Amino acid sequence: MSREPPMNLPPTAASNRFEHVPLTVFPSSAEASRAVAGEIAALIRARQAAKRTVVLGLATGSTPQQLYAELVRMHREEGLSFANVVTFNLDEYFPIQPSALRSYRHFMQVNLFDHIDIVPANTHVPDGTLPISSLDAFCREYEEKIQAAGGIDIQILGIGRTGHIGFNEPGSPRRSRTRMVTLDSLTRRDASGDFGGEENTPRHAVTMGVRTILEARRVILMAWGQHKAEIVREAVEGPVTPQITASFLQEHDNVHFVVDMAA
Ligand code: PGA
Repeated sequence: MSREPPMNLPPTAASNRFEHVPLTVFPSSAEASRAVAGEIAALIRARQAAKRTVVLGLATGSTPQQLYAELVRMHREEGLSFANVVTFNLDEYFPIQPSALRSYRHFMQVNLFDHIDIVPANTHVPDGTLPISSLDAFCREYEEKIQAAGGIDIQILGIGRTGHIGFNEPGSPRRSRTRMVTLDSLTRRDASGDFGGEENTPRHAVTMGVRTILEARRVILMAWGQHKAEIVREAVEGPVTPQITASFLQEHDNVHFVVDMAA
């Protein structure tokens, strides 16, 4: 067994006795994103040296954009290869075509996959085009593919103002797995700018479950901006509750919250 690089996020710079998870406050989201990219790159390189693959769980939204930009930069300028990387995205709107501008497949292509040397077949995003009748089978297979790939090494998360991780909205049980969900009205309002109004915003999504996320060997949740401060505080300091699915991360023994000053 090869030695893995140490986790390179600094431990709990701004810790206080109310926090139930390790949390680091960075001066800016750019610096935080570079630190997370550094940890991912170190794992990719260690696995390359051992001729093994890395399985990354990826997120969409505004939060991970600087992380992906930094990974693309490392690919271009530092020769970081993604040839040994397999990815599974958290979620996708439903229904939506992969080519749609607001689809998460499109987001991943534009922000990351189109600019790196990842094998296209190694990138997985839930399918927003399936007939309802095949969704259950698809969701089961998504879970099986994660298992077959060896399980998720690092899961990247944002957090919604509902406290959701992936699209696990309030009420999602701890045991939930990949499935179709109904989006919370606050989530749809937050997304409505992208879709040109709430009436055009999808009502459903396919998402990894809470349990799927908790099974990742390492989880990094990132949050930027003052509008995330209150929900981050609840997730980190509050009780573990399905009403704030990010609070379930308190039960993970290798999780790290990375926030900027404002959050
Ligand atoms: P954001 O969304 O990154 O666009 O803020 C995060 C989320 O809803 O999980």
